[in-house]
Amino acid sequence: MAVMEQTQTARFLRAVRGESVDVTPVWFMRQAGRYLPEYRAIRSRLSLLEICARPEVAAEVTLQPVTRLGVDAAILFADILLPLVPMGLRLEFQAGEGPVIHNPVRSPADVAALRPIEPRESLAGVLETVRLVRGALAGRVPLLGFAGGPFTLASYAIEGGSSRQFLATKRFMYGETRAWHRLLRRLSDAVSEYLVAQIEAGAEAVQVFDSWVGALSPADYTQYVLPHSRRIFERLRAVGVPTLHFGVGTGALLELLQQAGGDVIGLDWRVPLDEGWRRLGPHARLQGNLDPALLFAPRAELERQVRSVLAQAEGRTGHIFNVGHGILPGTPVDAVRAVVDLVHQLSA
Ligand code: CP3
Repeated sequence: MAVMEQTQTARFLRAVRGESVDVTPVWFMRQAGRYLPEYRAIRSRLSLLEICARPEVAAEVTLQPVTRLGVDAAILFADILLPLVPMGLRLEFQAGEGPVIHNPVRSPADVAALRPIEPRESLAGVLETVRLVRGALAGRVPLLGFAGGPFTLASYAIEGGSSRQFLATKRFMYGETRAWHRLLRRLSDAVSEYLVAQIEAGAEAVQVFDSWVGALSPADYTQYVLPHSRRIFERLRAVGVPTLHFGVGTGALLELLQQAGGDVIGLDWRVPLDEGWRRLGPHARLQGNLDPALLFAPRAELERQVRSVLAQAEGRTGHIFNVGHGILPGTPVDAVRAVVDLVHQLSA
Protein backbone atom coordinates (compact mmCIF):
# COMPACT_ATOMS: atom_id res chain seq x y z
CA MET A 1 0.00 0.00 0.00
CA ALA A 2 1.87 3.06 1.23
CA VAL A 3 5.08 3.69 -0.67
CA MET A 4 7.87 3.68 1.89
CA GLU A 5 11.01 4.36 -0.16
CA GLN A 6 11.61 7.73 1.46
CA THR A 7 10.87 8.18 5.09
CA GLN A 8 7.81 10.32 5.52
CA THR A 9 9.89 12.91 7.34
CA ALA A 10 12.14 13.24 4.34
CA ARG A 11 9.13 13.39 2.03
CA PHE A 12 7.52 16.39 3.70
CA LEU A 13 10.72 18.31 4.37
CA ARG A 14 12.01 17.69 0.84
CA ALA A 15 8.77 18.99 -0.68
CA VAL A 16 8.96 22.10 1.50
CA ARG A 17 12.44 22.75 0.08
CA GLY A 18 11.21 22.16 -3.47
CA GLU A 19 13.16 18.90 -3.86
CA SER A 20 11.94 15.75 -5.61
CA VAL A 21 9.85 13.30 -3.59
CA ASP A 22 8.78 9.67 -4.01
CA VAL A 23 5.10 10.59 -3.55
CA THR A 24 3.32 13.84 -2.76
CA PRO A 25 3.23 14.46 1.00
CA VAL A 26 -0.19 15.01 2.51
CA TRP A 27 -1.50 16.27 5.86
CA PHE A 28 -4.68 18.12 6.84
CA MET A 29 -5.25 21.35 8.66
CA ARG A 30 -7.34 20.50 11.73
CA GLN A 31 -6.49 16.82 11.30
CA ALA A 32 -6.91 16.34 15.06
CA GLY A 33 -10.29 17.13 16.49
CA ARG A 34 -13.95 16.46 16.77
CA TYR A 35 -14.44 14.32 13.66
CA LEU A 36 -12.18 11.66 15.27
CA PRO A 37 -13.99 9.39 17.76
CA GLU A 38 -10.82 8.97 19.82
CA TYR A 39 -10.63 12.78 20.20
CA ARG A 40 -14.30 13.02 21.16
CA ALA A 41 -13.72 10.39 23.85
CA ILE A 42 -11.06 12.58 25.47
CA ARG A 43 -13.12 15.75 24.91
CA SER A 44 -16.04 14.23 26.80
CA ARG A 45 -13.85 14.39 29.93
CA LEU A 46 -11.77 17.52 29.33
CA SER A 47 -12.33 20.97 27.80
CA LEU A 48 -10.22 22.19 24.90
CA LEU A 49 -8.13 24.40 27.20
CA GLU A 50 -7.68 21.52 29.66
CA ILE A 51 -6.40 19.29 26.86
CA CYS A 52 -3.96 22.01 25.77
CA ALA A 53 -2.76 22.41 29.38
CA ARG A 54 -1.99 18.70 29.81
CA PRO A 55 1.02 17.80 27.68
CA GLU A 56 0.50 14.01 27.83
CA VAL A 57 -3.10 14.38 26.65
CA ALA A 58 -2.28 17.01 24.01
CA ALA A 59 0.53 14.77 22.76
CA GLU A 60 -1.84 11.81 22.49
CA VAL A 61 -4.33 13.91 20.53
CA THR A 62 -1.55 15.15 18.22
CA LEU A 63 -0.59 11.55 17.44
CA GLN A 64 -4.13 10.23 16.87
CA PRO A 65 -4.42 11.30 13.20
CA VAL A 66 -0.86 10.17 12.45
CA THR A 67 -1.71 6.65 13.55
CA ARG A 68 -5.22 6.62 12.14
CA LEU A 69 -4.66 8.31 8.77
CA GLY A 70 -1.07 7.71 7.66
CA VAL A 71 -0.45 11.42 7.02
CA ASP A 72 3.04 12.73 6.28
CA ALA A 73 3.16 15.31 9.09
CA ALA A 74 1.90 15.76 12.62
CA ILE A 75 0.62 19.16 13.74
CA LEU A 76 0.93 20.15 17.35
CA PHE A 77 -2.38 20.10 19.20
CA ALA A 78 -2.90 23.59 20.61
CA ASP A 79 -4.86 26.67 19.52
CA ILE A 80 -3.84 29.93 17.88
CA LEU A 81 -5.50 31.86 20.69
CA LEU A 82 -3.39 30.43 23.55
CA PRO A 83 -0.73 33.19 23.52
CA LEU A 84 -3.43 35.81 24.08
CA VAL A 85 -3.93 34.48 27.62
CA PRO A 86 -0.49 35.38 29.04
CA MET A 87 -0.80 38.72 27.21
CA GLY A 88 -3.68 39.40 29.58
CA LEU A 89 -6.84 38.40 27.67
CA ARG A 90 -9.39 36.20 29.42
CA LEU A 91 -10.16 33.44 26.91
CA GLU A 92 -12.87 30.86 27.16
CA PHE A 93 -14.25 28.35 24.65
CA GLN A 94 -18.01 28.25 25.09
CA ALA A 95 -19.95 25.23 23.87
CA GLY A 96 -21.47 25.95 20.49
CA GLU A 97 -20.18 29.54 20.44
CA GLY A 98 -16.49 29.12 19.83
CA PRO A 99 -13.93 31.35 21.51
CA VAL A 100 -14.93 34.25 23.74
CA ILE A 101 -12.58 36.89 25.12
CA HIS A 102 -14.14 38.57 28.12
CA ASN A 103 -11.94 41.68 28.06
CA PRO A 104 -11.43 42.50 24.37
CA VAL A 105 -9.06 45.21 23.17
CA ARG A 106 -11.15 48.30 22.45
CA SER A 107 -8.85 51.28 23.07
CA PRO A 108 -5.22 52.36 22.83
CA ALA A 109 -5.03 51.95 26.62
CA ASP A 110 -6.08 48.31 26.25
CA VAL A 111 -3.20 47.79 23.82
CA ALA A 112 -0.75 49.42 26.22
CA ALA A 113 -1.96 47.11 29.00
CA LEU A 114 -1.08 43.94 27.06
CA ARG A 115 1.91 42.15 28.51
CA PRO A 116 4.91 40.88 26.54
CA ILE A 117 5.15 37.12 26.86
CA GLU A 118 7.93 34.75 27.76
CA PRO A 119 6.64 31.60 26.06
CA ARG A 120 9.12 29.33 27.83
CA GLU A 121 7.32 30.20 31.07
CA SER A 122 3.73 31.06 30.24
CA LEU A 123 3.33 28.50 27.42
CA ALA A 124 5.60 25.86 28.92
CA GLY A 125 2.86 23.22 28.65
CA VAL A 126 2.65 23.61 24.87
CA LEU A 127 6.43 23.37 24.58
CA GLU A 128 6.39 20.21 26.70
CA THR A 129 3.80 18.77 24.29
CA VAL A 130 6.20 19.49 21.42
CA ARG A 131 8.98 17.62 23.22
CA LEU A 132 6.73 14.65 24.06
CA VAL A 133 5.38 14.35 20.50
CA ARG A 134 8.79 14.68 18.92
CA GLY A 135 10.07 11.89 21.13
CA ALA A 136 7.06 9.65 20.47
CA LEU A 137 7.24 10.17 16.71
CA ALA A 138 10.86 9.01 16.71
CA GLY A 139 11.36 10.42 13.22
CA ARG A 140 8.33 8.72 11.64
CA VAL A 141 6.87 12.01 10.38
CA PRO A 142 7.92 15.60 11.07
CA LEU A 143 6.18 17.70 13.69
CA LEU A 144 4.76 21.06 12.67
CA GLY A 145 4.37 23.86 15.15
CA PHE A 146 2.05 26.79 14.48
CA ALA A 147 0.75 30.16 15.57
CA GLY A 148 -1.86 32.65 14.46
CA GLY A 149 -1.01 35.47 12.08
CA PRO A 150 -1.18 39.10 13.22
CA PHE A 151 -4.48 40.08 11.56
CA THR A 152 -6.28 36.96 12.73
CA LEU A 153 -5.08 37.26 16.32
CA ALA A 154 -5.92 40.98 16.36
CA SER A 155 -9.41 40.17 15.10
CA TYR A 156 -10.11 37.82 18.03
CA ALA A 157 -8.51 40.24 20.51
CA ILE A 158 -10.65 43.14 19.27
CA GLU A 159 -13.93 41.42 18.37
CA GLY A 160 -13.79 39.27 21.51
CA GLY A 161 -14.65 36.21 19.44
CA SER A 162 -15.36 35.03 15.92
CA SER A 163 -16.66 37.51 13.37
CA ARG A 164 -18.01 37.70 9.82
CA GLN A 165 -17.47 41.35 8.90
CA PHE A 166 -14.57 42.22 11.22
CA LEU A 167 -16.20 45.59 11.73
CA ALA A 168 -14.76 46.31 15.20
CA THR A 169 -11.36 45.18 13.92
CA LYS A 170 -11.48 47.44 10.87
CA ARG A 171 -12.84 50.39 12.83
CA PHE A 172 -9.87 50.07 15.18
CA MET A 173 -7.47 49.64 12.26
CA TYR A 174 -8.72 52.75 10.41
CA GLY A 175 -9.59 54.86 13.44
CA GLU A 176 -6.81 54.05 15.91
CA THR A 177 -4.07 53.37 13.41
CA ARG A 178 -1.13 54.05 15.73
CA ALA A 179 -2.57 51.77 18.41
CA TRP A 180 -3.35 49.18 15.70
CA HIS A 181 0.30 49.09 14.68
CA ARG A 182 1.37 48.83 18.33
CA LEU A 183 -1.06 45.92 18.78
CA LEU A 184 0.20 44.10 15.70
CA ARG A 185 3.76 44.73 16.75
CA ARG A 186 3.07 43.13 20.13
CA LEU A 187 1.27 40.21 18.54
CA SER A 188 3.99 39.59 15.99
CA ASP A 189 6.68 39.78 18.69
CA ALA A 190 4.74 37.28 20.80
CA VAL A 191 4.18 34.97 17.83
CA SER A 192 7.84 35.14 16.78
CA GLU A 193 9.11 34.25 20.24
CA TYR A 194 6.50 31.52 20.63
CA LEU A 195 7.41 29.93 17.30
CA VAL A 196 11.13 30.13 18.04
CA ALA A 197 10.44 28.39 21.36
CA GLN A 198 8.41 25.67 19.56
CA ILE A 199 11.33 25.14 17.19
CA GLU A 200 13.80 24.90 20.10
CA ALA A 201 11.48 22.33 21.69
CA GLY A 202 11.52 20.21 18.50
CA ALA A 203 9.08 21.56 15.88
CA GLU A 204 10.62 20.82 12.47
CA ALA A 205 8.56 23.36 10.49
CA VAL A 206 6.02 26.00 11.52
CA GLN A 207 2.84 27.30 9.93
CA VAL A 208 1.43 30.79 10.45
CA PHE A 209 -2.39 30.69 10.20
CA ASP A 210 -3.47 34.20 9.21
CA SER A 211 -6.82 32.59 8.52
CA TRP A 212 -9.01 35.68 8.16
CA VAL A 213 -6.65 38.07 6.40
CA GLY A 214 -8.59 37.56 3.17
CA ALA A 215 -11.06 40.08 4.62
CA LEU A 216 -8.65 42.88 3.60
CA SER A 217 -8.02 44.58 0.25
CA PRO A 218 -4.48 44.30 -1.13
CA ALA A 219 -3.81 47.96 -0.30
CA ASP A 220 -4.98 47.57 3.30
CA TYR A 221 -3.07 44.31 3.74
CA THR A 222 0.06 46.06 2.50
CA GLN A 223 -0.36 49.03 4.79
CA TYR A 224 -1.78 47.49 7.95
CA VAL A 225 -0.52 43.91 8.16
CA LEU A 226 2.31 42.99 5.82
CA PRO A 227 5.16 44.70 7.75
CA HIS A 228 4.17 42.77 10.88
CA SER A 229 3.92 39.40 9.14
CA ARG A 230 7.25 40.08 7.48
CA ARG A 231 8.86 40.63 10.91
CA ILE A 232 7.70 37.17 11.99
CA PHE A 233 9.14 35.46 8.92
CA GLU A 234 12.38 37.43 9.14
CA ARG A 235 12.82 36.34 12.75
CA LEU A 236 12.16 32.74 11.71
CA ARG A 237 14.56 32.90 8.82
CA ALA A 238 17.35 33.47 11.32
CA VAL A 239 16.39 30.16 12.97
CA GLY A 240 16.37 28.29 9.69
CA VAL A 241 13.43 25.88 9.82
CA PRO A 242 10.88 25.81 6.99
CA THR A 243 7.86 28.10 7.29
CA LEU A 244 4.34 27.86 5.86
CA HIS A 245 2.00 30.84 5.47
CA PHE A 246 -1.74 30.30 5.09
CA GLY A 247 -4.96 32.29 4.92
CA VAL A 248 -8.48 31.73 3.61
CA GLY A 249 -9.91 33.71 0.69
CA THR A 250 -6.52 35.17 -0.17
CA GLY A 251 -6.90 35.03 -3.96
CA ALA A 252 -6.36 38.79 -4.16
CA LEU A 253 -3.39 38.71 -1.76
CA LEU A 254 -1.21 35.78 -2.83
CA GLU A 255 1.73 37.82 -4.10
CA LEU A 256 1.62 39.92 -0.95
CA LEU A 257 1.57 36.89 1.34
CA GLN A 258 4.60 35.62 -0.55
CA GLN A 259 6.34 38.99 -0.10
CA ALA A 260 5.60 38.89 3.61
CA GLY A 261 7.30 35.52 3.82
CA GLY A 262 6.95 31.78 4.11
CA ASP A 263 8.74 29.02 2.22
CA VAL A 264 5.36 27.50 1.39
CA ILE A 265 2.17 29.44 0.63
CA GLY A 266 -1.10 27.70 1.51
CA LEU A 267 -4.00 28.15 -0.91
CA ASP A 268 -7.66 27.61 -0.25
CA TRP A 269 -9.81 25.88 -2.90
CA ARG A 270 -10.84 29.12 -4.64
CA VAL A 271 -7.48 29.54 -6.40
CA PRO A 272 -6.45 26.67 -8.69
CA LEU A 273 -2.95 25.45 -7.87
CA ASP A 274 -1.72 26.02 -11.43
CA GLU A 275 -2.82 29.65 -11.19
CA GLY A 276 -0.91 29.82 -7.91
CA TRP A 277 2.29 28.70 -9.64
CA ARG A 278 1.68 31.07 -12.55
CA ARG A 279 1.38 33.97 -10.15
CA LEU A 280 4.02 33.04 -7.58
CA GLY A 281 6.60 31.61 -9.96
CA PRO A 282 7.73 28.10 -10.96
CA HIS A 283 9.90 27.71 -7.86
CA ALA A 284 7.09 28.55 -5.45
CA ARG A 285 6.09 25.82 -3.04
CA LEU A 286 2.37 25.51 -2.57
CA GLN A 287 0.16 23.71 -0.09
CA GLY A 288 -3.44 22.76 -0.74
CA ASN A 289 -6.11 22.82 -1.76
CA LEU A 290 -9.05 20.39 -1.70
CA ASP A 291 -12.34 21.91 -0.53
CA PRO A 292 -12.87 20.26 2.88
CA ALA A 293 -16.58 19.90 2.04
CA LEU A 294 -15.56 17.34 -0.61
CA LEU A 295 -14.81 14.90 2.22
CA PHE A 296 -18.61 14.65 2.51
CA ALA A 297 -19.13 14.08 -1.24
CA PRO A 298 -19.79 10.73 -2.94
CA ARG A 299 -16.53 8.84 -3.30
CA ALA A 300 -16.40 9.19 -7.10
CA GLU A 301 -16.62 12.99 -6.88
CA LEU A 302 -14.05 13.12 -4.08
CA GLU A 303 -11.69 11.00 -6.13
CA ARG A 304 -12.23 13.11 -9.26
CA GLN A 305 -11.34 16.27 -7.36
CA VAL A 306 -8.29 14.77 -5.67
CA ARG A 307 -7.09 13.83 -9.16
CA SER A 308 -7.81 17.35 -10.33
CA VAL A 309 -5.69 18.92 -7.55
CA LEU A 310 -2.82 16.56 -8.40
CA ALA A 311 -3.27 17.27 -12.12
CA GLN A 312 -2.88 20.99 -11.47
CA ALA A 313 0.33 20.29 -9.58
CA GLU A 314 1.49 18.38 -12.70
CA GLY A 315 4.12 16.52 -10.72
CA ARG A 316 5.93 19.76 -9.86
CA THR A 317 8.26 19.58 -6.90
CA GLY A 318 7.15 21.71 -4.00
CA HIS A 319 3.54 20.56 -3.68
CA ILE A 320 2.15 19.56 -0.30
CA PHE A 321 -1.36 18.16 -0.51
CA ASN A 322 -3.82 19.52 2.06
CA VAL A 323 -7.36 20.76 2.37
CA GLY A 324 -7.97 24.42 1.50
CA HIS A 325 -9.14 25.10 5.05
CA GLY A 326 -9.49 22.93 8.15
CA ILE A 327 -11.32 19.61 8.25
CA LEU A 328 -14.93 20.23 9.27
CA PRO A 329 -16.70 18.65 12.24
CA GLY A 330 -18.66 15.58 11.16
CA THR A 331 -16.22 14.67 8.37
CA PRO A 332 -16.26 10.90 7.73
CA VAL A 333 -12.91 9.54 8.84
CA ASP A 334 -12.81 6.93 6.08
CA ALA A 335 -12.98 9.68 3.46
CA VAL A 336 -9.93 11.39 4.98
CA ARG A 337 -8.08 8.07 5.05
CA ALA A 338 -9.06 7.45 1.42
CA VAL A 339 -7.60 10.80 0.36
CA VAL A 340 -4.25 9.98 1.99
CA ASP A 341 -4.06 6.66 0.15
CA LEU A 342 -5.23 8.18 -3.12
CA VAL A 343 -2.68 11.00 -3.02
CA HIS A 344 0.11 8.53 -2.34
CA GLN A 345 -1.03 6.09 -5.05
CA LEU A 346 -1.74 8.64 -7.75
CA SER A 347 1.47 10.61 -7.25
CA ALA A 348 3.77 7.57 -7.04
O1 CP3 B 1 -5.29 19.38 14.24
C1 CP3 B 1 -4.93 20.57 14.21
O2 CP3 B 1 -5.00 21.25 13.20
C2 CP3 B 1 -4.22 21.14 15.44
C3 CP3 B 1 -5.01 21.85 16.37
C4 CP3 B 1 -5.61 23.23 16.08
C5 CP3 B 1 -6.72 23.72 16.81
N1 CP3 B 1 -6.94 25.00 16.43
C6 CP3 B 1 -7.46 23.00 17.87
C7 CP3 B 1 -8.89 23.33 18.05
C8 CP3 B 1 -5.23 24.23 15.18
C9 CP3 B 1 -4.13 24.24 14.14
C10 CP3 B 1 -6.08 25.35 15.43
C11 CP3 B 1 -5.94 26.64 14.71
C12 CP3 B 1 -7.01 27.64 14.85
N2 CP3 B 1 -7.76 27.94 15.95
C13 CP3 B 1 -7.36 28.55 13.84
C14 CP3 B 1 -6.67 28.65 12.50
C15 CP3 B 1 -7.12 27.57 11.56
C16 CP3 B 1 -8.42 27.82 10.93
O3 CP3 B 1 -9.31 26.96 11.11
O4 CP3 B 1 -8.56 28.82 10.26
C17 CP3 B 1 -8.38 29.37 14.33
C18 CP3 B 1 -9.07 30.48 13.58
C19 CP3 B 1 -8.62 28.99 15.68
C20 CP3 B 1 -9.57 29.61 16.65
C21 CP3 B 1 -10.60 28.66 17.08
N3 CP3 B 1 -10.36 27.53 17.86
C22 CP3 B 1 -11.99 28.71 16.83
C23 CP3 B 1 -12.68 29.79 16.00
C24 CP3 B 1 -12.58 27.61 17.46
C25 CP3 B 1 -14.05 27.30 17.58
C26 CP3 B 1 -14.60 26.85 16.29
C27 CP3 B 1 -14.21 25.42 16.01
O5 CP3 B 1 -13.59 25.17 14.99
O6 CP3 B 1 -14.57 24.59 16.84
C28 CP3 B 1 -11.54 26.86 18.05
C29 CP3 B 1 -11.70 25.60 18.79
C30 CP3 B 1 -10.78 24.47 18.44
N4 CP3 B 1 -9.41 24.57 18.29
C31 CP3 B 1 -11.14 23.10 18.30
C32 CP3 B 1 -9.96 22.38 18.05
C33 CP3 B 1 -9.81 20.90 17.89
C34 CP3 B 1 -12.54 22.53 18.46
C35 CP3 B 1 -12.87 22.63 19.89
C36 CP3 B 1 -13.42 21.48 20.61
O7 CP3 B 1 -12.85 20.38 20.69
O8 CP3 B 1 -14.43 21.77 21.22
